[in-house]
Parts: sequence; C-alpha cells; structure tokens
Amino acid sequence: MVHPAPGSRPRNASLATRLGQSSVAARLEDEVRLTAAELADSVAQARLRVAAARYKVEDEVRNTAGKLKTRVRKAADEARAKFGDDARFLKSWIDSPGRTGAVAPSSPFLAKRMASYVDPLVEGPVVEIGPGTGPVTEALIARGIDESRLVLVEFAPEFCELLRGRFPRATIVEGDAYALSKTLEGHLGEKASAVVSSLPLFNRPPAERSALVNDAFDNVLQPGAPFIQFTYAMVSPITRKGSGLKSQVSDWVLRNIPPARVWVYRRAKP
Ligand SMILES: C[S@@+](CC[C@H](N)C(=O)[O-])C[C@H]1O[C@@H](n2cnc3c(N)ncnc32)[C@H](O)[C@@H]1O
Repeated sequence: MVHPAPGSRPRNASLATRLGQSSVAARLEDEVRLTAAELADSVAQARLRVAAARYKVEDEVRNTAGKLKTRVRKAADEARAKFGDDARFLKSWIDSPGRTGAVAPSSPFLAKRMASYVDPLVEGPVVEIGPGTGPVTEALIARGIDESRLVLVEFAPEFCELLRGRFPRATIVEGDAYALSKTLEGHLGEKASAVVSSLPLFNRPPAERSALVNDAFDNVLQPGAPFIQFTYAMVSPITRKGSGLKSQVSDWVLRNIPPARVWVYRRAKP
C-alpha cells in the first residue's frame, strides 16, 4: 500500500473535501485579518489616550509653573516696594528727623489698628494727615473706605508724588497739616467723618498740638466724629485736662518698631 507524503493532498480527496478545506482556511484568514484590525484599532485608541493624558499633565505643569511664576514675581515686587519704602522713609528721616518722626513706616498691624476706629458706614471724606508712604491709607481702603473719599495731607513733596501714583483716586494735598482747615480749603465738599493722624506731635509744643485738634473739631469734622492719633509715647499726645475732649486708648501694638498705641479723641459735647 502507498501512503501519501505528509502535507500533500490525498490524491483521491474529493473536490468537495478540497473545497471545504479552502473555505475554512478563508474563514480563518478573515478572522485573523479582523483580529489584527481590532488590535490595530485598540493600539491607536491607547495611543490617543496616552497623548491626551500627556497633554493634560503638560498643561497642568504649565499652569502650575505659570501660577508659581506670578506668585514669585508678586512677592519680589512687594519686597522691592517695601524695601523701597523703608529706604525712602529713612532718607526722609535723615533729611528732616523732626518732621518725619520715625525711621520706618508703620507696620500693617499698627495701620490696621488705626483704621479700625474709622466707621466706613459713616458718610463723608476721611482726612489722613501725615500719610508718608501710605501704610495707613492702605489699611483705610482695606477697612472699606473708598479711595475717592480719602483726602491726604502730606508736607513732603517726595511722599506726595509717591501717593499720587499709589492712590490715584484720592485727593492729595501738599501742605501743612498744622494749619489744617486752611490747608484743606477747597478740598472738602462736606465735613469729614474722621481725621486720622500719624504726625509726630511730640515734636511740637502742647499748645500747637491742642490748636490742631481744636481746629479739626471746629472746622473739619462732623459732630461726633473722631480724631485718631498714634504715638510711641507713654502719655496722651494731647492735653486732656480742660480740653473738653473725651478719649480712649488702645493696648500696645507690639508688632511695630517701636511699639505704639492709638488714641481716639472726640468732643465731649459735640
Ligand atoms: C511718623 S511719619 C508717618 C507716616 C505714615 N503715616 C506711617 O504711619 O508710616 C509722619 C509723616 O507726617 C508727615 N508730616 C510731618 N509734618 C507734617 C506737616 N506739618 N504737615 C503734613 N505732613 C507732615 C511726614 O512727612 C511723614 O510722612
């Protein structure tokens, strides 16, 4: 008996058998092609997902880096401004120690305490005397007093220039706060709801200090409005005995160099 070689078609295989085998092969080939196509599709989808995830991560990194950059730039600007203010203040003190009255601007803590005695809901202008580089001005705005309500009286021209740039909607009056009502002539549409003073009062005799406060109560302030003053001294910078004033004083604001207190004066009989 003769056996067919392995792999060869049996010589006597019928046409039907041969046809059956080729249709199975064709089906198999189709399935393989289909599976390959599906595989290629899944690979393409996976690639798309990876690309999307990569884009998202890159976007987040870009965003975070951008935010960080903005924060660093802002901190650097603030540090530069603070350093600049300290330098300006020191220069002003060297040029005129009696007028400047301090070697550095007030801290934000003292400024905030000063502003806390102004009621933003009481209408009318708020007069700040001796604003310097503007720390108290900033605290008044943060307290809710619109910048346009602020009238700043400052003697030093270099500080006035700085204030005009920093508080463009405020009224900046370059002049002598010890002649308050005269200096403010034409600048107040109505009586003020507060006078906030950082003047170094102890560099003037008591009579001049009292004259300033009386001028403020007689000619500048609304009835019942406060005259607010900070001091590094242990005693009231305004003589209270026989003044017709009532007063209150804050506790020491220790986070200021040097520590300071805030006095608030009002007319006893408005
Ligand atoms: C102790 S500094 C206070 C500055 C700022 N308010 C602060 O708290 O950092 C006093 C300020 O009063 C100003 N000043 C002094 N005498 C003045 C006067 N007669 N009229 C207006 N401003 C005066 C000085 O130029 C200086 O800006």
